[in-house]
Amino acid sequence: MAAGPPLTIQQHILEEQRRLTPHASGDFSWLLSGITLAAKIIADQVRRAGLADILGEAGGRNVQGEAVQKLDVLANKVLLHCLGRRGNVAVMASEEDDEPIVVARDRQYGTYVVVFDPLDGSSNIDVNVSVGTIFSILRREIDPTGQRDPMIDVLQCGRLQRAAGYVVYGSSTMIVYTTGHGVHGFTLDPSIGAFILSHENIKMPPHGTIYSVNEANADSFAEPYRRFLAELRAGQLGRTYSSRYIGSLVADFHRTLLKGGVFLYPPTRQYPQGKLRLLYEANPIAFLAEQAGGAATDGRQPILDIKPESLHQRTPLLVGSREEMDRLMTLLRG
Ligand code: AHG
Ligand code: MN
Ligand code: MN
Repeated sequence: MAAGPPLTIQQHILEEQRRLTPHASGDFSWLLSGITLAAKIIADQVRRAGLADILGEAGGRNVQGEAVQKLDVLANKVLLHCLGRRGNVAVMASEEDDEPIVVARDRQYGTYVVVFDPLDGSSNIDVNVSVGTIFSILRREIDPTGQRDPMIDVLQCGRLQRAAGYVVYGSSTMIVYTTGHGVHGFTLDPSIGAFILSHENIKMPPHGTIYSVNEANADSFAEPYRRFLAELRAGQLGRTYSSRYIGSLVADFHRTLLKGGVFLYPPTRQYPQGKLRLLYEANPIAFLAEQAGGAATDGRQPILDIKPESLHQRTPLLVGSREEMDRLMTLLRG
């Protein structure tokens, strides 16, 4: 914890804004505070998940054909509600909604687009394992006619993200975000209901001792991935590795960010394009990774350079410390 009086996320956002863009309108800070409000509401629901009647499947399937958990639905509603009334968000897109949602009131003059995975790792909820929320913030041109296809605003390259981050509902609730000026982490102090700066300017170690991958899929990984994992296990990178896989991207990435190492979701037999979603999983994670000194690719190019073609597009995701990522990319180049 930083020394001195506690610095809340709101104070931090405002101070960063004053320092980096002194003439900014404050709209952006207002938007980010909508995310922190949603995070607190979702955290509260996650904390009481075993008590309230919100465990289990909601009975429907989302656009990807996956079972929808009740908390997925709830988290989605909370985010739509908290962000849709900020005044500056014109378009939202969520893992749980087939199409982008246009905020009727702000569709002409709203200058932001928010894309999110409301509850990541939702298969872990019922067994009390960490879950998260992932978000990506983009800018848009105003649209005085109000006629523009919202998909144009949503399908932007990851490099154009203005901010990105995640909330991890773990043993404590944390929010980690970047606006392109480093990565900062805040821990929710439940006694005062505020996110307090706890991890300033996070840097991913240049290498780690953990790899994270669903090894049940290893038989269907391409040869360079199998060879890479064999090298890690054999100590060929000069150290002994452990394996850790939670199955919540947010939690697996959070560990990778703080401790270094590598997280992989390569193409598999079941998911030949990779399983994770580009716009609201891989892009925000890649922005954070690069800002923290790590790397994120799809095996061919940086995630942030991929030109998106559809809202729910999947991508392989390889993310982690420089050293492990360099070796993996060398093997993948053949
Ligand atoms: P979501 O719960 O938002 O659908 O995301 C689940 C994702 C991600 O969190 C995790 O990294 C991955 O699915 C795990 O997939 P496997 O169970 O195939 O390993
Ligand atoms: Mn997810
Ligand atoms: Mn999800």
